[in-house]
Amino acid sequence: MNKLYLTLEHVAKSYARSVLRDVNLTVTNDSYVTILGKSGSGKSTMLNILGLLEDYDAGEYRLNGTLIRNGRDYARLRAENIGFIFQSYNLISTMTCRENILLPTLYGNVKDTRGIEGLAERLGIAPLLEQRVNTLSGGEKQRVAVARALILDPCLILADEPTGNLDVQNRDIIMDLLREEHKRGRGVILITHDMQTASCADTVYRLEDGVLVEGK
Ligand SMILES: Nc1ncnc2c1ncn2[C@@H]1O[C@H](COP(=O)(O)OP(=O)(O)OP(=O)(O)O)[C@@H](O)[C@H]1O
Ligand SMILES: [Mg+2]
Repeated sequence: MNKLYLTLEHVAKSYARSVLRDVNLTVTNDSYVTILGKSGSGKSTMLNILGLLEDYDAGEYRLNGTLIRNGRDYARLRAENIGFIFQSYNLISTMTCRENILLPTLYGNVKDTRGIEGLAERLGIAPLLEQRVNTLSGGEKQRVAVARALILDPCLILADEPTGNLDVQNRDIIMDLLREEHKRGRGVILITHDMQTASCADTVYRLEDGVLVEGK
């Protein structure tokens, strides 16, 4: 697994209005970071930039020595370093759980480094592997999405409100897993609305007026 060293320096991003004004952040393998902030404050925008899914307008983002520059294709860098858990699952509903989880392994010659069976067991979805995603409940879908994010054993896990729509039991399964991944040396950045969920992190930030400030 790669070592992780990520920095955002003075990162800014606008759409019709300015969303991120001056975002600074350093994350390593030792980091477990949660990000709070009002709806519309730019949390997903920031996570999408970190996940190499969106460009930024100004400042610098460096991921493991690579300066991320607009318009470049970072598919390989993403596949090798980042596991992204989306707010809305982003699964392919007509495919089975197994096919969805293994999708990242189809990239180039990237291998299935984790072992799908153990991961599915850990997430309580082993009996569902051959089932199509469109037959699953929300909590089951989110656990499949978590398995897909972890299958390549990323050094950085980005999670956009992964427990927002889940019951307590499903929330605990996912939070326990993220904690365990962090203990195994993965950097975690977790967006949440929920104070209790946020407080499990080493560092809690709040995104406010386009700036990331430490503290609840
Ligand atoms: N692709 C886009 N085009 C135009 N505006 C956008 C786009 N993506 C986000 N925005 C705007 O940027 C702002 C921040 O959106 P973002 O999704 O980052 O907020 P958020 O903090 O994740 O909110 P939530 O807690 O509701 O998920 C919002 O005002 C949103 O409308
Ligand atoms: Mg969001």
